Amino acid sequence: MSAHERDRAQSDRLVAGAFRDEDMEIEGSLRPRHLEEYIGQTRVKENIRVFIEAAKQRGEALDHVLLYGPPGLGKTTLAHIIANELDVSIRITSGPAIEHQGALVAILTNLEPRDVLFIDEIHRLSRTVEEVLYPAMEDGAVDIVIGKGPGARTVRLSLPPFTLIGATTRIGMLTSPLRDRFGVIERLDFYDESALTEILRRAATVLGIPAEEEGLREIARRSRGTPRVANRLLRRVRDFAQVRHEGIVTSEVAREALAALEVDALGLDRVDRLLLLTIIEKFGGGPVGIDTLAASIQEEPDTIEDVYEPYLLQIGYLQRTPRGRVATAGAYRHLGRTPPEQAGSDQPSLFE
Ligand code: ADE
Repeated sequence: MSAHERDRAQSDRLVAGAFRDEDMEIEGSLRPRHLEEYIGQTRVKENIRVFIEAAKQRGEALDHVLLYGPPGLGKTTLAHIIANELDVSIRITSGPAIEHQGALVAILTNLEPRDVLFIDEIHRLSRTVEEVLYPAMEDGAVDIVIGKGPGARTVRLSLPPFTLIGATTRIGMLTSPLRDRFGVIERLDFYDESALTEILRRAATVLGIPAEEEGLREIARRSRGTPRVANRLLRRVRDFAQVRHEGIVTSEVAREALAALEVDALGLDRVDRLLLLTIIEKFGGGPVGIDTLAASIQEEPDTIEDVYEPYLLQIGYLQRTPRGRVATAGAYRHLGRTPPEQAGSDQPSLFE
């Protein structure tokens, strides 16, 4: 078994089920292994390159790294690359998968020196489990309780030096003691069209999908700035190309497939449009509270906040105000509605 296969097998055991999903499987096979193959996120990449080089020169573990940003932007990919560039193994788990302190202690005490421990959705660690991380990150030790009752005592176990890489879509949900223990905190941003086109070109090559540049660009434009979305749309467009055409991803085929998938010219899907239309039509354009909105469209508030809102905020179709969510004039126009008149000239308007 290669080191990589061993990593995968061990990771799969830690997060049972997490790699079963089609996106994850394909993402795994498409995943770049080196920093120089990682497209976009230039500033983050250059910073990380320096920190890795410095740690390697000193023969030390890299400082703990927190990666945050919307889902699908490559946080897991980057964690794998960091481990690979450091030439160490990566152990993978997630906040919800670690149910009690003992499970985390077992993972930590089994690390080899300078290994990477990747905790996805780190904001979902329970408070008691999180407390194990504080001394682990700060002093390289865990405190374990031996025995029960009056005879119980605490023993401090030293850990090998290691790098914790935490990933989260919600930096605001991290407690400050945890956040403060990361030496490197980097935010991943949405990708622009040319970076996404490059990611798709690479994916098409790796997966053996014949594609024209304009076809890939059309998919990139409608991928909500997100490689995971881009790669998924590429596979669906390929299906249309294969069954209804000559098998080549062209811009015409991409447009036909994306229309069939109800992905519009800006990449908004049915749920994005339902969300905006609900604010506009049921709540007079807002503000409307997230829970009320979630109930109206039958989605979880967390899903709305993590998956749908970040891109709608980014393109300026949605605003978060203290009283709730508001659809902007851009959203009205995109959906073929007329934005309401400005309420009063002395009022700052959301519709300017
Ligand atoms: N796949 C997902 N994100 C990527 C990136 N930034 N570069 C290359 N391939 C990717």
